[in-house]
This record gives sequence, structure tokens and C-alpha cells, in this order.
Amino acid sequence: MPSGVQTEVKTYQMHINGEWVASKSSKTFPVYDPASEEIIAQVPDANADDVNRAVAAAKAAFEEGPWATTTAQERGRVLFRLADKIRQNLPMLAELESRNTGKPIVEAEYDINDTATCFEYYGGLATKILGFVNPVPDNAVSLTMKEPIGVAGQIIPWNYPLLMAAWKLAPALAAGCACVLKPAEQTPLTALEFAKWFGEVGLPPGVVNIITGFGETAGAPLVQHPDVNKIAFTGSAAVGKVIVKQAADTVKRVTLELGGKSPNIFFADADFEAAIDGALFGVFINQGEVCSAGSRILVQKPIYKKFVDAMAEKAKKIKLGAPLDRDTKMGPLVSKEQYDRVRSYLDVGKKEAKLAFGGGRAEQFAKGYYVQPTIFYDVDNSARIAREEIFGPVAAVIPFDDEKDAMKIANDSPYGLAAAVWTRDIFKAFRVVKSLRAGIVWINHMQPTYVEAPWGGYKQSGFGRELGPWGIEEYLETKQVHINLNESPIGWY
Ligand code: NAI
Ligand code: MG
Repeated sequence: MPSGVQTEVKTYQMHINGEWVASKSSKTFPVYDPASEEIIAQVPDANADDVNRAVAAAKAAFEEGPWATTTAQERGRVLFRLADKIRQNLPMLAELESRNTGKPIVEAEYDINDTATCFEYYGGLATKILGFVNPVPDNAVSLTMKEPIGVAGQIIPWNYPLLMAAWKLAPALAAGCACVLKPAEQTPLTALEFAKWFGEVGLPPGVVNIITGFGETAGAPLVQHPDVNKIAFTGSAAVGKVIVKQAADTVKRVTLELGGKSPNIFFADADFEAAIDGALFGVFINQGEVCSAGSRILVQKPIYKKFVDAMAEKAKKIKLGAPLDRDTKMGPLVSKEQYDRVRSYLDVGKKEAKLAFGGGRAEQFAKGYYVQPTIFYDVDNSARIAREEIFGPVAAVIPFDDEKDAMKIANDSPYGLAAAVWTRDIFKAFRVVKSLRAGIVWINHMQPTYVEAPWGGYKQSGFGRELGPWGIEEYLETKQVHINLNESPIGWY
């Protein structure tokens, strides 16, 4: 069924304690197809009552349920079975993800495949959580044991819905935690479809609860709940700051992934064709709705003019289209709200810089939140379009003189999630890597992400790391155990 064709509006329930339930208030809210602007589903509008119910279920599952004594091997098997379900249902999940987010179906297929891989990776890691023997100077054995942190509250965004759920659920389950996950209000559908397999794969009731709702009414009560031991959040810097404050009263562990304004840096000696491709891919993939988007494109002056022209020339050929069309390279933005936000930045950009391409709505579509891939150039790094995360297909091209100048501009940002550098000079590349204040740095590429490698930011891009062994560490507590080997009394008194 191509996007834009009205289908039946499906009413979902949410998943609490192994059951499908409505919100206690019975209220629901609509979920949209951003290409047709039509409602495709209704989901429960959870509030604090529902959050309380979900947290109580998670706490009981963690403390008293079968999950508390489930071995690491069995937890691993549960994750493998979840991965199998995702792979078996990849076409259905990818289509739903594409319809609900507006992202091209081909990209959605990559996302769902990565989602399965994430569960497989942490399925394997469940049995590799190791302790230490600490070399204390007494006749004693000192151990370090790793234990699950308890109940994890997980709040995720709409740009990679099921993949972001996996980045949070998979390490938490491998560690032995119980979870309450709140998908973004724009895109809760794939997480709800996924929950249908929980019982079948052997996940006991209450171990994973999925609540659908808005940030202030469902997210905030989760952050404040005294029985939630940890919050993992991916989203805006503004909400991240609120979460840190709200988590303070219960001294929760918090990890934050807050996006950025990542520099994509091109030196004059870079392979020109690869560079143009990399500049466009870095900022326009997923309609630019990417936390690590290379939205500041720094170009060395000798190639600057030619670079801007070549970018604009190639951007013209990017195929915008229906999300479910396999040739589509850019779909609509996820929501009316995001479309309005991005459009307002286009107006700001036109006052702050010069426009090489785009700058408005993609008029060939009668409906849908389509924005043209947009390239601003001669942007000053102090401009709003160079400082604020736009989260849409908007590039700010900034010229630079030399390496020192590039580093100054690149690091002059409140954010520090990611960066990329393009050059054929390995010495220069590594000098740049060392001076960049960012959690992820690519050389001669931008965006590849692997479950085996850490993901997270410096500065106001957040703290904590997801993926790899770093990801599971964030769901573990460290317990020190001392075993006295002296049989006689202490002999102090
Ligand atoms: P948001 O930060 O408001 O939403 C992300 C998640 O946080 C959603 O699940 C939302 O329901 C929840 N949330 C919102 N307010 C909350 C609160 N007070 N307490 C607890 N949870 C709360 O992001 P939004 O409004 O969708 O997008 C705004 C901007 O945020 C975007 O333009 C983009 O710049 C940035 N963003 C960054 C993302 C990233 O990957 N780092 C992802 C999504 C948005
Ligand atoms: Mg918001």
C-alpha cells in the first residue's frame, strides 16, 4: 500500500505487565503518516497513573519475578529470539517505520536490520559481564561484582524509533534490568508491534513495559518516579536539561544523548568526488533528522567555491518522494511540528547567509511535510543556523583558511557529539582527530555506526555512552565484596 493512501485507522493498546491495556483515563491520541498528513493509528495517552502501574510491574518483575533468577545464558537466548522475530518480520516493521516517520523504505530496512543486530550483539554480551579480583593487601579476597541497576526508564525520539528502542532495551535486558520504555509520541507503532512477541520469546510479564504518551505527562512522571533507578534519554538538549534537574530529587543515574551541530571538515587535498558525496550524505540522510548530522560543513578556501557549486548541483538530483517508493532518497519530515520548526530556520538562514540550493517546501507534493534539501553558504559560525540544532535537511557551509582555523570553528559549539574530517594526509587527519572535542570522529566518511563501537557526546551533547560494552556498563552497578580469610578475631578491643 503506497503511502498517502488512506487505510483503516488502527487502535493500539500499550503493554504493561505482559498485558495489553488502555490508559487509565481511556484517552488516546492520533499518530500520523507525514506523507499523507492523515491519521494512521490511535494510541493510549498515558499519564502518571499509567506510569505508576508500569513502574510497579517493572519493580515486581525485577525483584520477585522469574527475571530475578533468570541466568545470563537465558537472558541472552531471549535477546536472540527477539532478534529472530525482528528479522522474520523485517518487511512489516520497515514498512510501518517508513510510513510513520516518512523515512525512505530502504533506510527503514537498514534500521530494522540494525535493530536485530543490536539484540544479537547484547544477547552475546549477556554472558560476558565480568567481575574482578581486587589486589588488596590483606589476608582477604576482594571482589568486584556487577549487578543490574534495577528499573530503567527509557525515553526515546522519533528519528529511528525501533532502533533507538533497541539501543536502550538490549543492553538493559542483557544486564538483567527491567524496563519502562516511552517511545516518542510521533512514532510509537513499531515498538508496540514488537511488544507482541515478548511472551512468545520468554520475556516474563513486567520485564519490558511500553507506555505511549507525551513528554510532560508520561515522560516526566517516569523521570521523577522514586522506584526508577536510571533514566536513559535521547532527544533535545532542552529536555535533557530538564531531565537532569528532575532526576536530582531521587539521585537517579542518567545518561543523555542530546544531538549536536557536528562539523564535517573538508581540506583542499580531499578526494573531491568522495567529499561532495560525503557532505550531502552527512547532512541529508534520514531527511537530516539525525543527531550526528554533519550540519556544519567546513570547507578550505582553495576548493570552497567549487565545492558549494558541486554540492548544489548534486543536491538538485536528490530524489524526494513517497516513503515507500524504493527510489526515494528523501521523504517528508516526521511531523507538522518539525516541519514548522525547520521552515522557520530556513527563514532565519535566508537573513544570515547566502542560499545555494533549496530553502523552502518541496512544492511538487500536494501533501506531506516535504522540505527541499537546503544549502546555505558563507555562513558565519556565530549565526543561529550554525549554532542551533535544526534537525532537518539544512546545511550550513562555512569557509576556513587552515587547520588551526578549522579547529577553532569546529570546536566553537556548545555541542560535541560527532565530527568528520576529509583529507588524504594521515598526519593532518590524526592531528585533527586529537583536537576535536567530540565523542565520535570519522575520517573520510560520515555516519557509519556500529553496535560494537561506543556512541555518545562531549559537552552539551550529553553524557554516558551507548552501544558496545560501554552501553551495558550504564545498566550495571558495581558491588565490592570483601571475604575475610583470617579465622581469628579482629583483635582490636
Ligand atoms: P524532545 O526532546 O521533546 O522529545 C524526545 C523524547 O523526549 C520524546 O519521547 C518526548 O516525549 C520526550 N519528552 C519531551 N519532554 C519531556 C519531559 N519534559 N520529560 C520527559 N520526557 C520528555 O524532542 P522533539 O520535541 O521531538 O524535537 C525537538 C528537537 O529536539 C529537534 O528539532 C531536534 O533538534 C532535537 N532532537 C534530537 C534528537 C537526537 O537524536 N538527539 C532526537 C529528537 C529530537
Ligand atoms: Mg519536544
